[in-house]
Amino acid sequence: MTKRYLIANWKLNLPPEGIESYLRAIAGAVVDSSVTVVVAPPYPYLRDLHSVVTGAQNCSSEQSGAFTGEVSPAMLRDLGARYVIIGHSERRNIFGESEGLVARKLGLALETGLTPVFCIGEDLRTRDAGHAASFLADQVRAAAVAQLAGEREVIIAYEPVWAIGTGRNASGDVCAETSRAIREALVRFWPSHHASAPILYGGSVTPDNVDDLVSCGEIDGFLVGGASLDSGKMLRIAARLGQPGRTDGPV
Ligand code: 13P
Repeated sequence: MTKRYLIANWKLNLPPEGIESYLRAIAGAVVDSSVTVVVAPPYPYLRDLHSVVTGAQNCSSEQSGAFTGEVSPAMLRDLGARYVIIGHSERRNIFGESEGLVARKLGLALETGLTPVFCIGEDLRTRDAGHAASFLADQVRAAAVAQLAGEREVIIAYEPVWAIGTGRNASGDVCAETSRAIREALVRFWPSHHASAPILYGGSVTPDNVDDLVSCGEIDGFLVGGASLDSGKMLRIAARLGQPGRTDGPV
């Protein structure tokens, strides 16, 4: 059975329904066993989320030392995080994270025993110029760190910058074609066992557009921002993910 992931990236937000009610809904839901649901809250809430599988939204590229404001992968692991989002476009574009820094974070997260959710994605200008595949391949190549030789899985999240928070999601066809291009880059630049890495899509995913994305057949799950703040939406997306091809029915 293909492993699938649904990852909630709360970003700098909390669920309007309240954390307790959100967690009760997620932890109490029956989700298809092929789907792992992960919730990535802001750091201070990680420990409060012990009833669900957690991920962090970022980590330091250093494990300890004089790095004011940083949080190390080992500290995140101590807080119960099993996953960590690395290289989100908001980290790259707003906080200026370079390819080199992203690669160091990826390596340290792997060394620490966290499963990285490695984000890549092109902007609109790059896609319109027909350079999306080569841009994504460059991002994959730049992150080809030595620690990838280990056994730990890396989850890839394809998040086109033009689709994040814009209400404009990539179509199933675009996702399928891009996912194939990313897989080619993984084969070229990363150790061979990553050829079958799960590839998630992120960018304005909602319960209303998820069917097209699931039915493209090349996407192994979703990294969700805005819609992930609503437990009901999360569970509707999880239901679609667990039963590909399904278009209606109760959660
Ligand atoms: P939205 O779902 O709000 O577009 O955000 C996507 C994202 O950046 C998830 O990491």
